[in-house]
Amino acid sequence: MRKVLVTGGCGYIGAHTIVDLIDHGFEVISVDNNSRSTTALLDGIERITGHKIKNYKVDLCNFDDTGAVFQENRDMVGIIHFAAYKTVPESVARPLLYFHNNLESLINVLRCVRDYKIPNFVFSSSCSVYGNTVALPVAEDTPLGEAQSPYARTKQMGEQIIFDYARAYSGNNVLLRYFNPVGAHPSIEIGELPLGKPDNLVPVITQTAAGKLPEMKVWGDDYNTRDGSGIRDYIHVMDIANAHTRALQYLIEGKNASNYEIFNLGIGKGVSVLEAIRAFEKVSGEKLNYTMGPRRPGDVEAIYADNTRARQLLGWEPRYNIEDMMRTAWQWELHLKENNSLS
Ligand code: WQD
Repeated sequence: MRKVLVTGGCGYIGAHTIVDLIDHGFEVISVDNNSRSTTALLDGIERITGHKIKNYKVDLCNFDDTGAVFQENRDMVGIIHFAAYKTVPESVARPLLYFHNNLESLINVLRCVRDYKIPNFVFSSSCSVYGNTVALPVAEDTPLGEAQSPYARTKQMGEQIIFDYARAYSGNNVLLRYFNPVGAHPSIEIGELPLGKPDNLVPVITQTAAGKLPEMKVWGDDYNTRDGSGIRDYIHVMDIANAHTRALQYLIEGKNASNYEIFNLGIGKGVSVLEAIRAFEKVSGEKLNYTMGPRRPGDVEAIYADNTRARQLLGWEPRYNIEDMMRTAWQWELHLKENNSLS
């Protein structure tokens, strides 16, 4: 069976991707030091798929420990690299932590991919590499803007590291730029487990509705958008997951034209904060307690994807709409509330 190593496999997107990989016949192992996660999502994966996922509790910033995992699994067909810190405000407060953790781990993984001749590498990137772009929808060849945070800069630098690595060494590399991943697996056995107070819109909405947060602020009502609030391209985490499986299959089947390819992962349409709130209220039946507040520093006004390349070359089709995203996010929040141990 084709074996894949998922770094950050205990995290939100990593765990959902493991489910999709198993559904498509891959054998999966995880590497995750659980600095920002627990193994709770691996238990959920086992309940969904019947597969117990082995996790190597290894810090990818330790080259020798990382190499030992590759030494023990030389038969891998690919690596999907999610492991990174991703909290924008934390990256502003602690930039050196982000540069060290996100780049040192990437470099160590690439050194092992090279040394153990693993043929296929998929990198978790982010639409935040575009910065304050204006040309919408955003295509992959859009010139990258000024990173709005050290987190975004680690993704820009990570992409550049892989670019130079791809020119120097053999092996195939795909970079996936996520727009705004939200929601939970339809089984509600896995979902997002934000550590501490969330910054992202959807966990803030669901935690406010669940009474974990007293109220929610809409950051900005004076943007030049149809209702004054910020616009984003929300995409269900299982659509993001499936794109990873397809990207790996694309490389395994030798369909890639070059050994460095980039794909945007968004549904290709923008949804405003107020529209997202209305979708949540419609599917949950809850009235959300929110007030309008000032713009949040670093926020872009609007961004959504041109996803033509992923559709045409990966055969990828986003399946979930904003109401599906809100419904599964809310059901997951209620699941967490009932099973207090996970929250
Ligand atoms: C979305 C919209 C906010 C919270 C970030 C990272 C990106 C990726 C996804 C990691 C904006 C508004 C939010 C709130 C609000 N992270 N909002 N009230 O900033 O687009 O992207 O998360 O991979 O790299 O940059 O996502 O969910 O924080 O904000 O009004 O309490 O919701 O202003 O318009 P963002 P977000």
